[in-house]
Amino acid sequence: MGAEGPIGMVLGSGLGAFAESLENRFETPYRDIAGWPPSTAEGHAGKLVTGRASGREVVVLSGRAHLYEGYTAQEVVVGMRELAKRGAQSVILTNAAGGINLAYQPGDLVLISDHINLTGANPLTGPNDDELGPRFPDMCEAYSVAYREIARQTGEEMSLHLREGVYCGMRGPSYETPAEIRFLRAIGADLVGMSTVPEVIAANHMGMKVLGLSCVTNMAAGILPGKLVHSDVLQIASRMQDTLVKLLHALVTRLG
Ligand code: HPA
Repeated sequence: MGAEGPIGMVLGSGLGAFAESLENRFETPYRDIAGWPPSTAEGHAGKLVTGRASGREVVVLSGRAHLYEGYTAQEVVVGMRELAKRGAQSVILTNAAGGINLAYQPGDLVLISDHINLTGANPLTGPNDDELGPRFPDMCEAYSVAYREIARQTGEEMSLHLREGVYCGMRGPSYETPAEIRFLRAIGADLVGMSTVPEVIAANHMGMKVLGLSCVTNMAAGILPGKLVHSDVLQIASRMQDTLVKLLHALVTRLG
């Protein structure tokens, strides 16, 4: 599939274990990279990690910047720009998400098929850098169909049933209201989260191929009794990590 450089990766909330599993690991804390906005969210390690996974070069963002931390959309995608600078033409983005689709359950892994941007922000706002990509990038296949098919097959071989769905990106940091979740379901969203969308826009602008993988850490607001708590999100994410690490290792050898 022609991707020569390393595979880029972004590890979401509570999902940093893959970075620790690399051989020849080299870590650079974000604070040591000029111009990098520091990551502050609980559960985010905040470092760039390079190394080899199952024989393939990878460059990993372990922890990300979010709009809800007060960063601009342009700051949020500094990491994605760094992955591209280091030669990544393919990127796997992971996140923790709330399940809107009633067929989902906490613990499910979902391949993102498309997204809805309700963050109110776009990282390409402002003058376009023509060196990076076009003014008006196409988003018809923001999440590679071919990569999704490879991931689905890989999952099957591992006896993992990977679901597929549309991710809706919100600004946060408050969780959604039950009425908002009913609205998101009505407009076609299966998953909701506070990340990924700005990065995927920047990746597509730069011509990178994207695989998006959501870990359903909770059912979205109003679906089940009880409140949404970040510590529960991190707990479910950490329980899913072993499976996710195995899947990511299998995927890096097969994508591109
Ligand atoms: N809503 C928004 N973001 C999230 C959720 C949610 O329910 N779960 C994990 N990240």
